Amino acid sequence: MIPLLAVEDVTVRFGDFAAVSDVSLALMPGAALGLVGESGSGKSTLLRVLLRLQAVASGRVLMDGADITTAREGGLRALRRDVQVVFQNPHSALNPRLSVHDSVAEPLQIQGVSNRQQMRDRITGLLDDVGLGEQFLWRFPHELSGGQKQRVCIARALATRPRALLLDEPTSALDVSVQAQIIDLLRRLRQQHNLAFLFISHNLAVVQLLCEEVAVLRQGVIVERGAVKQVLHAPQNPYTQALIASVLSPGGSRLSGPAVCEGVRAFGIH
Ligand SMILES: Nc1ncnc2c1ncn2[C@@H]1O[C@H](COP(=O)(O)OP(=O)(O)OP(=O)(O)O)[C@@H](O)[C@H]1O
Ligand SMILES: [Mg+2]
Repeated sequence: MIPLLAVEDVTVRFGDFAAVSDVSLALMPGAALGLVGESGSGKSTLLRVLLRLQAVASGRVLMDGADITTAREGGLRALRRDVQVVFQNPHSALNPRLSVHDSVAEPLQIQGVSNRQQMRDRITGLLDDVGLGEQFLWRFPHELSGGQKQRVCIARALATRPRALLLDEPTSALDVSVQAQIIDLLRRLRQQHNLAFLFISHNLAVVQLLCEEVAVLRQGVIVERGAVKQVLHAPQNPYTQALIASVLSPGGSRLSGPAVCEGVRAFGIH
């Protein structure tokens, strides 16, 4: 099978500093791959490389087997349609001046949906998909909770009928109970739409809920990868062991904020 999206031997430099070093990673159609690592390990940079928003110093970016490393925007149409992204902070991801309707309408307009009734039907369908009723159509972001905002962001991301979602810590700005709801929603949507996920998180316990495979990034290098269960229960690399220990113990290191520990408890993973 050909990966939907892949990087091969990618290095990203900011001046002399290599934020990503020689990383190869493949996202297969319909698969869910977790990417974990402490703050600054290069997770978001790698995501930006996959979206062709970040230039590489060396290596290749491939979509459906085709080299898109240096493709111009015209050659990135399939990428822009088929691969959508959901960010950590739904508060800044939505335009405060746009109603829910208009926010979700934007990507549809870009796709050329112009018929009013068609537009309205697509928007209510997308909102329904993410568990929001018609009463939300004309609300503005300031009239929504964090979880509701993230649902709108996910509806927007689904508007182009993508094949993959790249999720950069999509739940870490939310309350623990809301995190669990969004995780549930993502699991359901993945099944329903046969989506591939690249899911970035500090929290291996959350990754386990969504992904089959995981790659562990440390200082821009992948130090471990494999089936989530195997990596979580029998980590081979000391860094991965520390990462797991810090997430699972309340008094752990810099990776164990209270939210992370609560998240682990809320999901019942010990
Ligand atoms: N545009 C940039 N210019 C210079 N340095 C950058 C730039 N973007 C990222 N970096 C650096 O690259 C490294 C990796 O950053 P990145 O945002 O990919 O980390 P991350 O793993 O996503 O961290 P976090 O978990 O905090 O989001 C960091 O040291 C960061 O400071
Ligand atoms: Mg990041």
